[in-house]
Amino acid sequence: MDIELRNIHKRFGAIHANNDINVRFRHGRIVGILGENGAGKSTLMKILSGFQPADQGDILIDDRRIDYKGPTAAIANGIGMLQQDPLDVGAFTVLENFIYGGAEGLTLKRAQAEAQLSDLTARFGFELDPHQPIDNLLIAQRQQLEIIRLLALGVETLILDEPTTGISAEQKDILFDALRRLARDEGMIILLVSHKLEDVIDLCDEVVVLRAGLMVGEMDMPASDKDLTSALIADTKGQLVTMMFGEELDAQSRPHYEIGAPVFIADKLIVQDLRLDMQPISLTVHAGEVIGLAGLGGSGQELFMRACARIQRVNSGSLHFDGNNITGASYRQLFRRGCVFGAAGRLEEGLIAGLTLIEHTALVADDKLQIDWKSVAKRADTRIDHYRIKGAATDNIEQLSGGNQQRMLIGLLPDDPKMLILEQPTRGLDVDSARWIWTQLLERCARGAAIIFNSSDLEELVTYSDRILVFYAGRVHELPDVSRTSIDELGHLIGGEF
Ligand SMILES: Nc1ncnc2c1ncn2[C@@H]1O[C@H](COP(=O)(O)OP(=O)(O)OP(=O)(O)O)[C@@H](O)[C@H]1O
Ligand SMILES: [Mg+2]
Repeated sequence: MDIELRNIHKRFGAIHANNDINVRFRHGRIVGILGENGAGKSTLMKILSGFQPADQGDILIDDRRIDYKGPTAAIANGIGMLQQDPLDVGAFTVLENFIYGGAEGLTLKRAQAEAQLSDLTARFGFELDPHQPIDNLLIAQRQQLEIIRLLALGVETLILDEPTTGISAEQKDILFDALRRLARDEGMIILLVSHKLEDVIDLCDEVVVLRAGLMVGEMDMPASDKDLTSALIADTKGQLVTMMFGEELDAQSRPHYEIGAPVFIADKLIVQDLRLDMQPISLTVHAGEVIGLAGLGGSGQELFMRACARIQRVNSGSLHFDGNNITGASYRQLFRRGCVFGAAGRLEEGLIAGLTLIEHTALVADDKLQIDWKSVAKRADTRIDHYRIKGAATDNIEQLSGGNQQRMLIGLLPDDPKMLILEQPTRGLDVDSARWIWTQLLERCARGAAIIFNSSDLEELVTYSDRILVFYAGRVHELPDVSRTSIDELGHLIGGEF
């Protein structure tokens, strides 16, 4: 199968999200779709996969013009998209979801479906127990199920929108191996939207770059049989960044601040969890200090952060914040004392779909009983300006691109907190935006805020942390010296080699 997009246009009000896009995706190729936050990547992929119509333009499959409406019709034409938020049904098992989402719907025989499921699972080295409820699965496994479901439906083009945010390095390797095989052995087209340039260089045969709705470049990636030396990777990254932003970015280094007095102390804290055997954790965080938590997803770092924010129960040990024992406190009490928690799940926990940016601003206002909408609107505009959010104050949050939602989430944090506990603060942000968010966060550190954050991006951890705690299966190991730790070493440590 070959796909051609011709003169694709899509407008949202004044925004020209896709402006005359012309591109051809060829049989057996893995193509990266790159561009800064709000460039129009998701919009284009949703058009191709039938999730939204183009205003204008044609989709051609093997040089035939195809007119389809809706994702089911796109799948029938061989094009399937892995949504960023999986569409599966939580209470059902893996097998039930597979049957329910299959072509024959509920008429597919259980035994037959199970055979097909385990066949596909084994073929790609996935780990899916057909009888597990979906709720117990990792994000990566839900993706695996969705890929298998689309393959069983016979798609020949697979679109993945930021599939590696929130999955571990190990799971990413499994995913990438599967994608390589689908392209090489089955001639499938794989389209990958990603902000992680290393991933794109590693996996893709070629990339197309969007900027402000326009297609601004195409480039072949170094062949995978060639040695991907660090010099070659750095050079390719530089070229991609220049295409994405129209300029080169300066090397980022972390300014260092005076470390102040202790603000947060965890003493032999044991977090309550049924699945992980959490070991006691002791940690003292000082004003101005940045503590990075590393680890594969589900190794205990998320639980620890939530326990610190008083959202997760503790079994024993104590927590002190700003001189007070907060072991039994609620998050509300903590928040009033100046400790703020930022959740990773943008539209699940942090932001509320259906509310505008103005309404979000009102939610974090000091006095919620008497809202002065005029001043709230002004404040929303200031945030949009300051955080360079592409969107209007009256937009609903879900109208923003993923990266711009993340900026809004950071923009809603108070200006002078004593401590920030942040889950994956730069998840889904392009390189430039991620640096800019860190500049904002570090300004708060300079004024005395302490930060605890986690990330699956090892470079981010090494660049911005004063200290790093590595989590593995509920055990914790503190790096003796971050500045002398390489990304490779950190990679081994999060695999449990300590
Ligand atoms: N449903 C919508 N309503 C209004 N505007 C929208 C809608 N969907 C997208 N947009 C706007 O279109 C532009 C492109 O958005 P898109 O989601 O395609 O960006 P993106 O390249 O995927 O960005 P990111 O990397 O941040 O996910 C953005 O300015 C966005 O605000
Ligand atoms: Mg997007």
